[in-house]
Amino acid sequence: MSHPRLRVVLVAGARPNFMKVAPILRALKAREERFEWRLVHTGQHYDHGMSDVFFEELGIPTPDFHMGAGGGSHAEQTARIMVAFESWCEEFAPDLVMVVGDVNSTLACSIVAKKLGIRVAHVEAGLRSGDRRMPEEINRLVTDAISDLCFVTEPSGLENLRREGRSEQSSHFVGHVMIDDLFFQLSQLQRMTRENFATAPLKQSLGRYGVVTLHRPSNVDHAETLSGIASALGEIAAELPLVFPLHPRTRANLARFNLVLPDRITITEPLPYMEFLNLWSDAALILTDSGGLQEESTALSVPCLTLRENTERPVTLTEGTNVLVGVDPQRIVEAARRQLGRTRQGALTWPALWDGAASERIVAVLAGERAS
Ligand code: UD1
Repeated sequence: MSHPRLRVVLVAGARPNFMKVAPILRALKAREERFEWRLVHTGQHYDHGMSDVFFEELGIPTPDFHMGAGGGSHAEQTARIMVAFESWCEEFAPDLVMVVGDVNSTLACSIVAKKLGIRVAHVEAGLRSGDRRMPEEINRLVTDAISDLCFVTEPSGLENLRREGRSEQSSHFVGHVMIDDLFFQLSQLQRMTRENFATAPLKQSLGRYGVVTLHRPSNVDHAETLSGIASALGEIAAELPLVFPLHPRTRANLARFNLVLPDRITITEPLPYMEFLNLWSDAALILTDSGGLQEESTALSVPCLTLRENTERPVTLTEGTNVLVGVDPQRIVEAARRQLGRTRQGALTWPALWDGAASERIVAVLAGERAS
């Protein structure tokens, strides 16, 4: 029996979305007889290094619609995206809007779709930090509450959704599309000439090094917190040189608060996906407040210290290499010393279904071939 093709719109907006839409698009493309798809880029992230370079490297097709709706306050950004997405959706009339992650674009497009009577699927649903001061937590709660289909990356997500009253039939534990992409890109990286990366000489000269990423408003928008973290990083760098690709928000705030990092911390621009992967996958230690990197480091068994008081990704603590250390400078330094004193081991446990096939599972659910 032949089915009419399902019209699916996939939304991407900010850097952490791009590695999630790439494998879903590959899986949709492989099933062209079942799906007609479009890609929408909200433009929440707009710098070349935060956006275009990811499209090039991850092989993401040119978006069918680019809103250019980045910048401004949360309300301004969310509102611009909603207005633009509404008129575009009315024209394309999709059967399903698929949103990923927890950024403002995720929230904006899911609300618009739902109010137009279009079904919404949320990929990376159910994660909860329990901290409603995080903009991402609000985005997650609202998006999940109105989504018709929730695709979940780890068991805690299923449990959270169940507790919030969602039916079991609409929640699907499928694994993690970001890990699909990580494995895919890692195999590409192994075939590349890594010496061409701008950071290759640095990597070689440092030998053993750590990698830092920070961008959360709670960590970088307050002088006292940021200077505490900077002093901890300075102490760690005396023992282990650090490489720190700077998010635009963090760069602006270091300047605003007159904070200067010591020489043994090498500052770079935000790095392209492949170059960053080449750097962090061989690091002795990662210090981060990113959501994705907690999971990616677990997938490649790289020790990771998360500079937050909570995580919405607890499987990385129980079955991975992640340790929550908060933002107290002394705690950060002690945790780093403890970690560096250990010999690096492969993971003994592994998050279930982080096997590179999450996107295929999602597409099978959409095609009605997989129940859960
Ligand atoms: C957003 C996401 C966060 C994600 C992060 C990854 C939300 C609520 N937050 O936070 O979950 O982990 O992306 O980077 O959606 N800017 C630039 N160039 C850019 C993008 C942003 O200069 O390409 C500037 C913006 O103008 C703004 C600041 O950086 O001043 C923050 O950007 P914004 O998109 O609001 O949030 P992020 O902090 O990047």
